[in-house]
Amino acid sequence: MPLLDSFGRVHDYLRISLTDRCNLRCIYCMPDLRMQFMPPAALMQAGELITLARHFVSLGVKKIRLTGGEPLMRKDAAQIIESLGRMPVKLAITTNAFFLDRFFDLFDSIGLRSLNISLDTLNPDKFKSIAQKDSFLRIWKNIDTAVNRGFHVKLNMVVMREQNLSELPDFIELTRTRPLHVRLIEFMPFAGNKWNYGKTVSYAEMLELIESKFDFEKIEDAKNDTARNFRVSGATGTFAIISSVTNPFCSTCNRIRLTADGKIKNCLFSREESDLLTLLRSGGDVQKQIIESIRGKHAARGGLPPFESKGAAGEFEKNRAMISIGG
Ligand code: 5AD
Ligand code: SF4
Repeated sequence: MPLLDSFGRVHDYLRISLTDRCNLRCIYCMPDLRMQFMPPAALMQAGELITLARHFVSLGVKKIRLTGGEPLMRKDAAQIIESLGRMPVKLAITTNAFFLDRFFDLFDSIGLRSLNISLDTLNPDKFKSIAQKDSFLRIWKNIDTAVNRGFHVKLNMVVMREQNLSELPDFIELTRTRPLHVRLIEFMPFAGNKWNYGKTVSYAEMLELIESKFDFEKIEDAKNDTARNFRVSGATGTFAIISSVTNPFCSTCNRIRLTADGKIKNCLFSREESDLLTLLRSGGDVQKQIIESIRGKHAARGGLPPFESKGAAGEFEKNRAMISIGG
């Protein structure tokens, strides 16, 4: 039986956060309030994580994405990735690429071919101000190696009016000669990230800017894809816009999230979370709880008001910070 919600959406894509820690501190993701990280005992241990993942797979999950914080920071990341790699799922990862060089061989050996890499600027100084760490060159080298080793590399750029909008054309320029897939993401509100509607650069505005500088064409989108895909004429790579704010894709959502402390979130913006890890530790019926959680999913945005409505920033502030959800 597939995991169905009350709107008939099939849920077959699970995103597991391995840790809420990160070696970077991107301003849109990690609040500058002093972060209260999860205590180690509250985290899923490797074995627990695998057991929970198996329950999801039994319930029809076909794709698992690992997220963080930074998933590759976790000491037992390799062990977890290896175990998940043996399950009958498509395994993917979202990473900041800092530790990537240590994992290429493992990814090759389990057939993980697709890497989503968060990168918001191509300028080392700017990187230092957005990620609050001077790591651009190391990360860029890892991205280059990934491309040379034949990985399918997507670069996620969160477009923020004041920080990096001016670099949007440079990112698209990258796709002309390299097999890179740039994804321009509308900036979304989470606890502590000082969002307001004016900081989000909309799909329409991005497209207008791109139209003024490039010849490009629409290309096909995959099923359940949150991105609208394009290609600059004659380019090797592609670019896409993810309009999570101005044109949310809730109606085709197939996503489930599991936080590093073992709570299921049926939506990126859900306030209700159910604690699968505690249930697992006490011998409860995990699958029943997963089914119930998905059934209780709201139609859109975890039941929160539209982003453009008055007071929206305050409502979204009550969610977790992005770093402890995993994206
Ligand atoms: N708005 C939009 N996207 C975000 N991400 C993180 N925080 C935000 C935000 N506030 C994206 C990052 C990362 C992915 C997991 O989520 O680009 O690659
Ligand atoms: Fe770390 Fe990624 Fe969040 Fe940046 S976006 S702080 S790299 S988890």
